[in-house]
Amino acid sequence: MNTTIQHVEPILGTLNSTVTLPGSKSLTNRALIVAALAEGTSVLTGVGLSDDTEAMLGALAALGVRTEVSGTTVTVHGRGATLAVPTVEVDANQSGTSARFLLPMLALAGSGTLTGHEQMRARPMGDLCDALRGLGAVVDGDRLPISVAGGVTGRAVSIGADVSSQFVSALLLAAPVFPDGLDLTLVGTPVSQPYIDMTISVMEAFGANVDAAPDRITVAAGGYRATNHAIEPDASTATYPLAAAAIVGGRVTVAGLGARSVQGDAEFAKRVLEPMGATVFVDEDSIEVRGSGLLDPLTVDLGDMSDTAPTFAALAAKASGTSAVTGIGFIRATKESDRVQASVDELNRLSVDATVDADGFTVIGADHVPAAVETYEDHRMAMGLALIGLTRAPVDVIDPGCVAKTFPGFWDMVAELRSEAQASPLVLAIDGPAGSGKSTVAKLISERLRLPHLDTGAMYRAVTYAVLTAGVTLDDHEAVRLAAENAEIIVGPSRVLIDGEDVTTAIREPEVTAAVSTVAANPGVRVVLAESQREWARRRGGAVLEGRDIGTAVFPDATLKIYLNASVEERARRRALETGDDDIEAMKAKIAERDHQDMTRETDPLTVADDATVIDSTSLTIEGVVDAIADAWISAEGR
Ligand code: CDP
Repeated sequence: MNTTIQHVEPILGTLNSTVTLPGSKSLTNRALIVAALAEGTSVLTGVGLSDDTEAMLGALAALGVRTEVSGTTVTVHGRGATLAVPTVEVDANQSGTSARFLLPMLALAGSGTLTGHEQMRARPMGDLCDALRGLGAVVDGDRLPISVAGGVTGRAVSIGADVSSQFVSALLLAAPVFPDGLDLTLVGTPVSQPYIDMTISVMEAFGANVDAAPDRITVAAGGYRATNHAIEPDASTATYPLAAAAIVGGRVTVAGLGARSVQGDAEFAKRVLEPMGATVFVDEDSIEVRGSGLLDPLTVDLGDMSDTAPTFAALAAKASGTSAVTGIGFIRATKESDRVQASVDELNRLSVDATVDADGFTVIGADHVPAAVETYEDHRMAMGLALIGLTRAPVDVIDPGCVAKTFPGFWDMVAELRSEAQASPLVLAIDGPAGSGKSTVAKLISERLRLPHLDTGAMYRAVTYAVLTAGVTLDDHEAVRLAAENAEIIVGPSRVLIDGEDVTTAIREPEVTAAVSTVAANPGVRVVLAESQREWARRRGGAVLEGRDIGTAVFPDATLKIYLNASVEERARRRALETGDDDIEAMKAKIAERDHQDMTRETDPLTVADDATVIDSTSLTIEGVVDAIADAWISAEGR
């Protein structure tokens, strides 16, 4: 066994990465089998090359199927139903899918022996052997090595679907090449139903005719048609970088995996990360997660995405309370390691309280202590546990090389997330005087950039409203500061509340507008509100903030600073339209007075930050301004 150690240090900063991941191992191995059984040459692109795929390619060679690998493209010269009788033992190594999918292939070849790595020899195969026997094959043994003699002659058979969906998939994949197809009865509720759906989607891509009901699947005979087929990035693998965004805070986008995915695990972000508090966007072709580093506890049934259990263990360890996973008892015997016991033992080693349940495990989130963790020659345990070291305290991962089973580039990806992390959250600061268009533009750009939006002016207005209502004199600086400190202000997308009172309209009244710049000049008020604005943005993993001093005082390290301006005439005209007050000259005077107060106050006056991009909106359309900011953001975000 490899005894090297990978030291994982906390990432200080917020993540900001788009990652490209290897192709799905599950889809790759399914497509390799199907292409091998097709008549003619198929080209598979975006293939996930890993130890598991290597095992499959080696086994196919033993069955007389020629393949050529070039980068992530594999050309497969399919043989239809005429596989060669292997002259050597066919070796599935550690690959569960290879072992399961290859057994019916040996039956098709007529005879052969399938073997595998010690770990694989301990994993169950019996139900699949029985099904093949039921179809007429002579199968010797119930665990690897297993010898098969004689081909498939029957059509109808039943199988327990509640043990491993891989047994069902194995029979389905070979079925179009069986002499009469397959009539498969599923006994019990299938575990990992999405994997069966995935199998059928690959079969159909190669022209198979499948009729699936919950308890019975029929496959017509007739073989497969060779085709060119693109493999999606691996959705189980995607859970690691996406969970990292939720754990560390910031943004991570996985490219090439989205709403169209046929992989069940692509749901992880929506079903686990979102309820734990992260913001999730699923597009046609990408999944993006924005996190704050703060996680809510969650109890979830992961029965149909059980490979994500180790990722969930890491998230649960970080959550502010008790989390639990259910529905995964069956993985204890069928996967590389007993991931239920292993997760619990390793969390305990890190001083995180975790216990094994009948059908999963329970974790009480807590600050972990630095420790070295065992990985049980299990890639998913290694990748899941590594996530824990990304915040608070380091974790040493023993035998890090085991990730090669599905994701040889995992440690490079972690290094990349680290090097691309930023010192501060992603912040777009938009400053400028009244009427320059900040609010309209900030709302639109926040939708475009998918960052939440905070109107900081509304906070100053809310405090002003509270002070005026309480009858506090504006000159009493300490009383005004205390009012700001004690107020609970919530600025939502469409409403503003102060101490539970909805003041959305009230804070726009002329009395508030007339007094707000005096309140905003109070240094104590500024300290209180600036800190709550920083906290607001940090908790959301980034934000668009509009105001007067965002780029100069609140976030001097903002990702991008915009200073939005317009002539005083134009600003007065816009305000007059908004308020219905058509005395433009009076409006001009009020705006000029407020500009003067905001620009000449002592604490954090309205000025153009040295590194701000100045946009004069006098003669620009709103779309024009938003486009200009979006362009500037793209280059700033990449810096
Ligand atoms: O909407 P309008 O442009 O009239 O102003 P606002 O954004 O609602 O801000 C009202 C007032 O709050 C400004 O005139 C400033 O005096 C103050 N303010 C500030 O001092 N610092 C900020 N970051 C935001 C607003």
